[in-house]
Amino acid sequence: MIILKTSAEIEQMRRAGSLVGQVLEKLREHVVPGASTRELDAVAEGMIRSRGGVPSFKGYRGYPASICASVNNEIIHGIPGDRTLAEGDIVSIDCGAILGGYHGDAAVTFPVGSVSVEAEKLMTVTREALEAGIEMARPEMRLGDIGYAIQKHVEANGFSVVRDFVGHGIGRHMHEDPQIPNFGPPGMGHRLRSGMVLAIEPMVNAGVHEVVVMDDGWTACTRDGSLSAHFEHTVAITDDGPEVLTLP
Ligand code: MF3
Ligand code: CO
Repeated sequence: MIILKTSAEIEQMRRAGSLVGQVLEKLREHVVPGASTRELDAVAEGMIRSRGGVPSFKGYRGYPASICASVNNEIIHGIPGDRTLAEGDIVSIDCGAILGGYHGDAAVTFPVGSVSVEAEKLMTVTREALEAGIEMARPEMRLGDIGYAIQKHVEANGFSVVRDFVGHGIGRHMHEDPQIPNFGPPGMGHRLRSGMVLAIEPMVNAGVHEVVVMDDGWTACTRDGSLSAHFEHTVAITDDGPEVLTLP
């Protein structure tokens, strides 16, 4: 069942989303060669709590941290730890917070120093694919139009879309209906309505779309070892079109 939000609820989700956007903006400054992913996690957790928020990932199904930090061939759910970032890496940072009872959820892939031309292109195409998906988040479009727009842009650029993980509705819970695949035919699925709030999150691999999950039970990597990027925003559907709630 898809839970529609009132404009007062969307106002609250804008606060939660803005906090997540500000955390990611702050983390950008900390993504430098030599920084450990644990340090990034500490910055995020401190900032969320200092604003009266709660890191939504921490404790979710036993997840031990406030962010996911996924480096290079890691797609999502990388657990922060001793690993230090190196010049030329890319790191996907996913962050979620609860504020006033509502969730915000967003992700960005950052370059560490200067990165390869391929890595730059992968990040650019993934961000553009998210934007193309967001453009479809309008009343009278259908859910499948989002995934179709994302997949089309990604494949036109020679990359592949991950199938094993999808976006989701969001509100009082991090994961609500509907699931939002980043692929599939247009014109299918639920009709989109004003008041829906969606976390749209394309995960894009430079090589094959298949995933392997590491022995830690969380970290999802590309099967062929190729690079992967991930961008996510929490987006409200309004009568005036999509509103991104996770801007700083
Ligand atoms: N953005 C992710 C999601 O939508 C992150 C949650 S994974 C967690 O599902 F386990 F770390 F919480
Ligand atoms: Co999400």
